[in-house]
Amino acid sequence: MTTHALDPGCPVDESFDPLSPEFLADPFAVLGKLPPGHERPVFFAPSIGYYVVTRHAEIEQVFRDHDTYSATIAQAPLVPLVPEAQQILLAGGYKPAPTMVSLDEPAHARLRRPTARAFSIKRVHGLIPAIEATTAALLDAVAGQTEFDLVAALAFPLPANIVFSLIGVPERDYAQLKQWCGYRAALSWGRPDPADQVDIARSIAAYRGYIRILVDAKDSERADDLTSDLLAIHDEDPERLTLDEISSILFSLSFAGHETTTGLIGNTIRRLLEDQSRWQAVVEQPELLAAAIEETLRFDTPVPVWRRVTTRPDTLGGVRLPAAARLFLWLAAAGRDPAVFDVPGQFDLSRPNADQHVAFGKGLHYCLGANLGKLEAQLAIGELARRYPELALVPGQRLTFHPNISFRGPQSLLVRCGQDRYVPPGRLSGRPGFAGGS
Ligand code: HEM
Repeated sequence: MTTHALDPGCPVDESFDPLSPEFLADPFAVLGKLPPGHERPVFFAPSIGYYVVTRHAEIEQVFRDHDTYSATIAQAPLVPLVPEAQQILLAGGYKPAPTMVSLDEPAHARLRRPTARAFSIKRVHGLIPAIEATTAALLDAVAGQTEFDLVAALAFPLPANIVFSLIGVPERDYAQLKQWCGYRAALSWGRPDPADQVDIARSIAAYRGYIRILVDAKDSERADDLTSDLLAIHDEDPERLTLDEISSILFSLSFAGHETTTGLIGNTIRRLLEDQSRWQAVVEQPELLAAAIEETLRFDTPVPVWRRVTTRPDTLGGVRLPAAARLFLWLAAAGRDPAVFDVPGQFDLSRPNADQHVAFGKGLHYCLGANLGKLEAQLAIGELARRYPELALVPGQRLTFHPNISFRGPQSLLVRCGQDRYVPPGRLSGRPGFAGGS
């Protein structure tokens, strides 16, 4: 629904519904049915009340024009919440524009600056041993199996464990936090039933409360983690970064560093295994992995949609937008834009300009965790390829996806290990015919 008159020149697509089973199963099939060559860069979708932006150039224009296109809507619930759920969220401190990614200047910079400082290259690189050790432990746990679910075994737990340890969350609380993060995706980017909204809202209020208590605990007992780095910045000038703001930053990072990277690992492995020659290429030339990840961010990005709202009227892609127009920036469609990418429907490990994707946004809100997410995917998939050169998808499986607009990766991905199934050296005795793992 829209409360304003549409530009008569604006196409309307009554059938477009990004939460329909058809769309969730294969958004690119829906994209393929739109007029060819992204001729319709902006159209209105009544099912969600958003203008859908499909073309790379217009999406970049929106990301770069922070005055006209506000981020305040970035994580607003896609559908209106029932009053009881709203009440619980407000009481739990979940205000409409609470965190970095949905703040405009100057409030945004107040949070972004210290986060960027604490989230230094040194801190990210310092995570390499932890990423390697966690990957090894997770893969050891499925070693010797002929088939396993890659999402449950690796793509889901790895990023969560890494970001929680980066923040300094005690390990015993990881499972609880992971569950809360799943609810958060459903609330802001899905269409939960009114009955479920209240339960979800309670979980999110508890999640926020937990993070605030964590900040206080770290304040009294510092450690070698990002929260303590933020507290050190707070010590320099408590007015410049308050404890509530640190809590808000952690609320951002604990979620942003988790679902996104799970999707990136799952989507990259899926796309590599869909054509065995791609997997072989990566096994034989591990240096191709960086290109494979970049191409996945273009071809099948784990954050397919991001949102903005206009602060004033503007014209975008030939369509006149009023103030308060809500935009559904279809980042996944931009990755398939033929004006930028040759034969965009083809996954190509040697594509020269894959990194022109907009998977991490552009401009002031450009993803702070882009390097960390790519590093985790690279180390995890590199180790997988080393252990399982003959890895393959279990045939006939039907992939399913979480019912939300912004976080996309297979919920499970069954793989078959082949002749070379890996057994860690310690478990080798009595296993004739073992041929993998070196
Ligand atoms: C690996 C896959 C990832 C993808 C595809 C991704 C994508 C995005 C996108 C689309 C945005 C919004 C950009 C905008 O509004 O212009 C964003 C922002 C952000 N991301 Fe990521 N992200 C990923 C991983 C991560 C990781 C691992 C972290 C942190 C541990 C992270 C932290 C953030 C933060 C803090 C922001 C807000 C930045 C700001 O508002 O200034 N992301 N990300």
